[in-house]
Amino acid sequence: MNAEDMSNSAPPGVTRRQLLEGVALMSLTSAMPPVAKAQALAPGEVATAGAITGSSRLPMAFLINQRHVEVALDPRTTLLDALRNEIGLPGSKKGCDHGQCGACTVLIDGRRINACLTLAIMHQDDEITTIEGLSDGEGLHPMQAAFVARDGFQCGYCTPGQICSAVGMLQEAGAGWPSHASDDVARSQFALSDEEIRERMSGNLCRCAAYPNIVAAIRDVAERG
Ligand code: FES
Ligand code: FES
Repeated sequence: MNAEDMSNSAPPGVTRRQLLEGVALMSLTSAMPPVAKAQALAPGEVATAGAITGSSRLPMAFLINQRHVEVALDPRTTLLDALRNEIGLPGSKKGCDHGQCGACTVLIDGRRINACLTLAIMHQDDEITTIEGLSDGEGLHPMQAAFVARDGFQCGYCTPGQICSAVGMLQEAGAGWPSHASDDVARSQFALSDEEIRERMSGNLCRCAAYPNIVAAIRDVAERG
């Protein structure tokens, strides 16, 4: 029976318009997919991704700052969140969490990487170095000392990422990797002019705009070789 037939056999007291609206509503709701039922939380309980999806943690092992670290992580955990929230190394900072600011920069096998853009589970066979691992006990890494000497920071939030990035950048330049500012990409060595340093460090932003002093600090270390 179609809607027209049904409207002609409407029960007493029900108008043709009311009946047609009811038929339309029934056909709409039956076409909609069932909505998943949200899991009720107890008062004070905090929802987590794992609780909602039923995922579980996996045991993982890392080499971080020359130390062997074992921890159970949700496989979706970024390296940055693992370092900061699970492993107790909060030196790497979360600025944007989108690969745009460089505050989370760490070194993986000596190469700089944005820890917010990579999953921890991918780095179990790598050597991870964070800002906490650059110093030698109480002795600062030369790049850390240069940032202090040149006053290369104000609030300091971007500084761990700047320093890790600068260390990785000097290794890249020493290995003959050209940058967009390089005049001859075929060279095997690059003299790090201020323009080269600024270009090579362009992935690390500083909202305090301490750039002149950051460049000076990196230039000091580069000139010492
Ligand atoms: S927090 Fe990783 S790039 Fe900004
Ligand atoms: S020193 Fe404040 S963001 Fe760079």
